[in-house]
Amino acid sequence: MKPIHETESSEIPASDSKPVANGQLLPGVNVAVIGAGFVGLVSAAGFAEFGHSVVCIEKDQERLELLRSGKIPFYEPELAELIERNVKNKKLSFSDNLNEAVVGQKVIFVAVGTPSLESGRTDLGALDEVAASLSHLLTSEQILVLKSTVPLGSAQRIREIIKTHCNGNRPPAVISNPEFLREGSAVFDFFNPERVVIGGDDTDAIDTVIHVHKLGMLKPAPFVVTTNETAEMIKYASNAYLATKIGFANELAGLCDSVEVNVMEVVRGMGMDSRIGSEFLNPGPGWGGSCLPKDIKEYIGMAKASQQQMLIADAVLKANVRHHQMIVEKTEKLLGGLKGKVVGVLGLAFKAGTSDMRSSPTIPIINGLVQAGANVRAFDPIVKERGEYLPAELEIVADSDEVFAGADCLLLLTEWQDFQLLDWANLGSTMKTRKIFDARNLLPPELLRRHGYEYAGMGQI
Ligand SMILES: NC(=O)c1ccc[n+]([C@@H]2O[C@H](COP(=O)([O-])OP(=O)(O)OC[C@H]3O[C@@H](n4cnc5c(N)ncnc54)[C@H](O)[C@@H]3O)[C@@H](O)[C@H]2O)c1
Repeated sequence: MKPIHETESSEIPASDSKPVANGQLLPGVNVAVIGAGFVGLVSAAGFAEFGHSVVCIEKDQERLELLRSGKIPFYEPELAELIERNVKNKKLSFSDNLNEAVVGQKVIFVAVGTPSLESGRTDLGALDEVAASLSHLLTSEQILVLKSTVPLGSAQRIREIIKTHCNGNRPPAVISNPEFLREGSAVFDFFNPERVVIGGDDTDAIDTVIHVHKLGMLKPAPFVVTTNETAEMIKYASNAYLATKIGFANELAGLCDSVEVNVMEVVRGMGMDSRIGSEFLNPGPGWGGSCLPKDIKEYIGMAKASQQQMLIADAVLKANVRHHQMIVEKTEKLLGGLKGKVVGVLGLAFKAGTSDMRSSPTIPIINGLVQAGANVRAFDPIVKERGEYLPAELEIVADSDEVFAGADCLLLLTEWQDFQLLDWANLGSTMKTRKIFDARNLLPPELLRRHGYEYAGMGQI
């Protein structure tokens, strides 16, 4: 196996300057991105902004129509403007025709979804379908890049699928390029990555993929060039570690609650240590979202398949489920029982800045409240529908004021900054009792207490 080496990108042009190196105009590349989800759409628009010609392929007709009419299918700050600008400049187009992903394109990024199966392992159906449909068209001049999060050995698996279907053509290089952007700040992250991981064994293909990323990067970022397998593992290990770090902060908050120590001061003191760092060390209602839950399950599943026990990751997963229950129990304690009580929930998205409800911790928590007999109503600035995830008993209200009216207690679950600006003094007078459980430690406890609220936070005294 090749060792990892880092290359520091240099001579990075500012996005509005001409991309020039050694007096030469660096050419844009013809790029296809398959899948117009959070990752595919941000990448397609971002690469177009860099100066590449990008076609983004999406098979969901409803999503495609929205995109063609200038709308985006989910909430992501700054993305709509980025897409509009690049469509206008004719750098970005949308299609449902997979052939367009291949004919005339140099680099083909695959960014289709890789959700969990019942077993916890990864459903590679969408990826395999793309590989099988493209393989008879791909040539050795092209580069297939796996941007989706895919289990160990997937790049090799895709090479084999292509070999089976490629009618004797020399197959393209298959490069692993896992994505690390965060929903809610995906556009910023795309232009300011902390590292770009590129795995493969074809040096020309690797150089081209580096060029595609480097052309418009706003600040130099290290490229971690390695094998396909190491790139695949870096992504899973990173997400398992992030879940562990959040889970640690959540458990610590429980301890701080029972020994009456302020967890926010503890994590502040911890985070100043560069060996620890302050990011992802804030207690909350439990980690969730479209990535961490499925990725930690695959991480554990991959270990089990190699007869390896992952005691830490297993515990992190179990602790998160327990943590959701703990949020329900703590709400119950604040109210002295949940049956017949009105709980007003502030926030539904798994984190602020996104409309994504996949594996949001709000789902098990609201289900727990409903099962214990509470009447739950919720407000979220962006999520306006129950969708397939939330129970039918939940009422979603259009205005934050409606969450307060007649409520026995408020439960703040998503850290939307808008919640800090609510008229806490006056809205409290519309509640049955002024009680709040701030499961994000977003609000100032002293101020709320001054306004007459009985306040509970996460490890806050
Ligand atoms: N969402 C994130 O924050 C994030 C961050 C890092 C990595 N990832 C990884 O990136 C991948 C994509 O995630 P996402 O959240 O963008 O997924 P998503 O489900 O939001 O989007 C996937 C898109 O691909 C489309 N698609 C599926 N099959 C297709 C085909 N054959 N042709 C054309 N389009 C097709 C789907 O219709 C959908 O629009 C996953 O592997 C995920 O784990 C996601």
